[in-house]
Amino acid sequence: MQNILLTGGAGYIGSHIAVELINAGYFPVIIDNLANSSEKSVERVGKITGVTPKFYRGDCRDEKLLDKIFVEAQISCVIHLAGLKAVGESVEKPLEYYDNNLNATIALCRSMKKAGVKNFIFSSSATVYNSKNPMPLSEDSVTGGCTNPYGWTKYMIEQILSGVQKANPDWSVTLLRYFNPVGAHKSGLIGENPRGIPNNLMPFITQVATGKREKLNIFGNDYPTKDGTCIRDYIHVLDLAKGHVKAIEYTLNHNGVEVFNLGTGQGYSVLDMVEAFQKANNIKLPYTFAPRRAGDLTECYSTPAKANKILGWKAEETLETMCADSWNWQRQNPNGYEE
Ligand code: NAD
Ligand code: WQD
Repeated sequence: MQNILLTGGAGYIGSHIAVELINAGYFPVIIDNLANSSEKSVERVGKITGVTPKFYRGDCRDEKLLDKIFVEAQISCVIHLAGLKAVGESVEKPLEYYDNNLNATIALCRSMKKAGVKNFIFSSSATVYNSKNPMPLSEDSVTGGCTNPYGWTKYMIEQILSGVQKANPDWSVTLLRYFNPVGAHKSGLIGENPRGIPNNLMPFITQVATGKREKLNIFGNDYPTKDGTCIRDYIHVLDLAKGHVKAIEYTLNHNGVEVFNLGTGQGYSVLDMVEAFQKANNIKLPYTFAPRRAGDLTECYSTPAKANKILGWKAEETLETMCADSWNWQRQNPNGYEE
């Protein structure tokens, strides 16, 4: 069985990837400092699959710990998810974001070099694309011109990894640009668990549904879209996780740097999401229209044609199952992993 190192593997996306890796016959080894997660997610992966990943609590900037992990476990491929990800917070605390996200990546590359591990998959983001691109975004769309430090860390890490691969031609680097991950595992045992007031749409909606928040504020209804609200490419986290299994097969069998969008290619508005949530769960969702949120793009959606063709991967879930599965998780865990 091949071991895959998941940095940040206790988090929302990482825990779902761990399940899909086990389902596909891989064994996940996780390093996470639990800055934005709980070790309970790792236990729950064990509950779902019958296999509990190996867990190291620690920071990816701790190169000695990484060296130890690479000695203790024969790692075939690294999926690097560890990072801070709150856009607004990154504007307030740029140094924390540059330090955490960049230095974790640099320490990881150094340690991989020492250990002779050459396969790297990075959790990048649609946020690396320039806001002036026409839609849909393809991997050739213009990048850069990011509007916040979080986005810049993703952009810079893509550059760092491309440089490392150029200097080490036997490395294989796969950059996965995620669009808007939502949803949860069908069991309702793992899901998104934001701390404090959620920034993102779906966790805010599910907290309105539990009664924790009074109503959803829809940021702007005067955008030039069909109903005046912004358009995004929401992708079920299960589809996203399955994309990583395909990306491992690709990464293990190629050298070079390759970029893939992971999205559905379908744009939905905020009001589409509200309607789908109400319909899928038979819940009334109170909302009001609020002013636009600074920095929001009118539309952001992918063409996933490259991943469809080269990885043989396609998102299969619908907006309804994204809504039903998000609610199934939140309903069963109104306080996330906390009791
Ligand atoms: P998450 O916060 O749930 O997971 C990230 C994990 O990394 C957390 O468990 C956190 O504790 C850990 N971590 C952070 N810094 C660390 C460090 N220095 N050392 C060890 N562990 C550390 O977030 P997520 O939504 O699961 O996102 C995973 C990755 O995907 C992130 O890199 C994120 O930027 C990227 N991404 C997420 C989205 C999204 O909307 N959720 C979109 C695009 C890209
Ligand atoms: C979606 C839509 C909001 C909350 C962010 C990051 C991006 C990426 C994914 C990691 C927008 C609207 C939201 C609310 C609302 N992360 N909304 N009321 O902004 O597309 O992307 O997360 O890489 O980098 O910027 O996602 O979920 O925050 O918002 O009306 O309470 O929902 O205005 O139109 P976004 P989101």
